[in-house]
Amino acid sequence: MNILRNLFQVTVLLSLVACGDGATSNVTSSVPAVTPQIPNATSKTLKSVAPENLIIGVAASDDYLTNTKNHDIVEQNFNQITAENAMKMKFLHPTENGFSFANADAYVSYAKTHNLSVHGHTLIWYSDYQLPDFMKTYSGGKTEFLAMLKNHVTTIVNHFKGQVQSWDVVNEAIDDNGGYRNSVFYQKTGTDYLDQAFRDARAADTTVDLFYNDYSMEQGGNKFQTMQAMLDGMLARQVPITGIGFQMHVMLDYPSVDTIRASFKAIADRGLKVKISELDVPLNNPYGYGFIYKSLTDPAAALQKKRYCEIIKTYLEAVPVNLRGGVTVWGVRDSESWIPSTPDWKGNADWPLLFDANGKTKPAFEGFQLALESKPCG
Ligand code: XIL
Repeated sequence: MNILRNLFQVTVLLSLVACGDGATSNVTSSVPAVTPQIPNATSKTLKSVAPENLIIGVAASDDYLTNTKNHDIVEQNFNQITAENAMKMKFLHPTENGFSFANADAYVSYAKTHNLSVHGHTLIWYSDYQLPDFMKTYSGGKTEFLAMLKNHVTTIVNHFKGQVQSWDVVNEAIDDNGGYRNSVFYQKTGTDYLDQAFRDARAADTTVDLFYNDYSMEQGGNKFQTMQAMLDGMLARQVPITGIGFQMHVMLDYPSVDTIRASFKAIADRGLKVKISELDVPLNNPYGYGFIYKSLTDPAAALQKKRYCEIIKTYLEAVPVNLRGGVTVWGVRDSESWIPSTPDWKGNADWPLLFDANGKTKPAFEGFQLALESKPCG
């Protein structure tokens, strides 16, 4: 996210519309009063107001299955889960000849029981903490490395065949300046690993959706240009790619919805799917106006509500129904988000998600909901 270098100033909303429920009770008899259930925005779940067949996903944390506190929220609001970490490389393929599927299988089995589909994340990713040690120190040359990677992709996709709806085949292959990232994959194979991974995934599962996934592409710029060139090369070579996953770890004030819209459209215009794969909207912007929010103030929550609404609205407007890979939020409660633990945040707290630490819906949730219902964002 280092290229998030905007200098925009946040415009703090000075006035908020107070939305009390205004309920009055006319009960005057001695019959015990029953608190009327006042319908309000938050009484409707995301799933219940979403356009038909729209995938609305959420990342399921590492303790999601054992710590059941988020199950109701997820089962009521979402129809897809992405394991936040459990299906990353090292956890599925810790040693060259050893795969480990039990934990990931438990997510898939839970999802099946609760009518949730699963987005597989991710077959290939450079990031150190999840890269298997044996890949980091691989001694073989290009041919051996590609053969090892073929076995990795084929074995995993084959294992989950028919059980996951889509895969992030490659994650974050392009760096912040728009060059190919100098990962172990690139060092060993140049860009050859990219085509091969998609071809191997398709050979193992003929119907699953196959995505290239990355951050900051929605900003346009060099990274987006490189990705499009990569994509067009793949299409020309008939590499089986279904779509692009925009992670969308976006700022409250950056990039603009017009830029986001143009990025989505550029992919949809090629007839490829667009997925918002890891949406979150922190209040603070370490690349711009800094850490100005020390708590979730009402004006900040209102800005975040509007931002969520405008992002979802833009997605629904820019991407035709048949090309929608869906929208996934990267976590349930603010208190569980990865954002404050990323190096850029340097220990500063933030509140980037739809539910607060108590599992209560935030204004951001209502913003998401407004867009799903095609209502104005305000
Ligand atoms: C993050 C998880 O949320 C954290 O729990 C983990 O420590 C690091 O990875 N882009 C991605 C995701 O593709 O896999 C990352 O998830 C967030 C950035």
